[in-house]
Amino acid sequence: MTKAALRMLRLMDRAVSAWHIPVIGKEKGRVLRRLLARYEPRRGVEVGTLFGYSAILVGGSLPRGGRLTCVEQNAYLAKFAARNIEEAGLGGRVKVVVGDALRVLPMLRGPVDFLLIDARKEDYLDYLRAVELRLRKGALVVADNTGVFRREVKGYLAHVRGNGRYESREYDFGTDCMEVSVVRG
Ligand SMILES: C[S@@+](CC[C@H](N)C(=O)[O-])C[C@H]1O[C@@H](n2cnc3c(N)ncnc32)[C@H](O)[C@@H]1O
Repeated sequence: MTKAALRMLRLMDRAVSAWHIPVIGKEKGRVLRRLLARYEPRRGVEVGTLFGYSAILVGGSLPRGGRLTCVEQNAYLAKFAARNIEEAGLGGRVKVVVGDALRVLPMLRGPVDFLLIDARKEDYLDYLRAVELRLRKGALVVADNTGVFRREVKGYLAHVRGNGRYESREYDFGTDCMEVSVVRG
């Protein structure tokens, strides 16, 4: 992680703790960084970018040559995120695409070995399905807010835990959970 990216995350941490903005945050961020260091994905997709917190955290943790494509439906937020990503020195490896992920994801090309799902909770399974055929063996799929929105993500959890294609486990942070699924080899 570069100094510029860390500086940007610390700045955002201060802002979100004062304003309760729904970013992935420090605690889940630490787990995410550990997972990224372990799996070293090279081609990532993020669904739901807000102003770029998780994009900077993930983009800054990818190995050399890694790329992250972020999909954000709100044009203002997408622009804001792109500026923050640039400011964090990650403009070369993190790209923000504006649009509804349900329309954008099927148009993206190439294999994917990291997927972060953090947009409309009822659509988690549809986001995953839109990328699923392009997930490599060993790919890491992370779904945020699966504790707070347990009912909305029920179908998603049943899919990753029950269809045999993933090794899936829940990280419980007390007030919320994050589901981490790895595509079986
Ligand atoms: C919880 S925030 C994302 C937080 C971000 N991942 C972070 O941790 O910094 C959810 C974002 O998803 C976006 N969103 C919701 N539905 C979407 C969709 N169908 N396609 C793309 N973005 C969507 C919202 O505009 C919002 O910015």
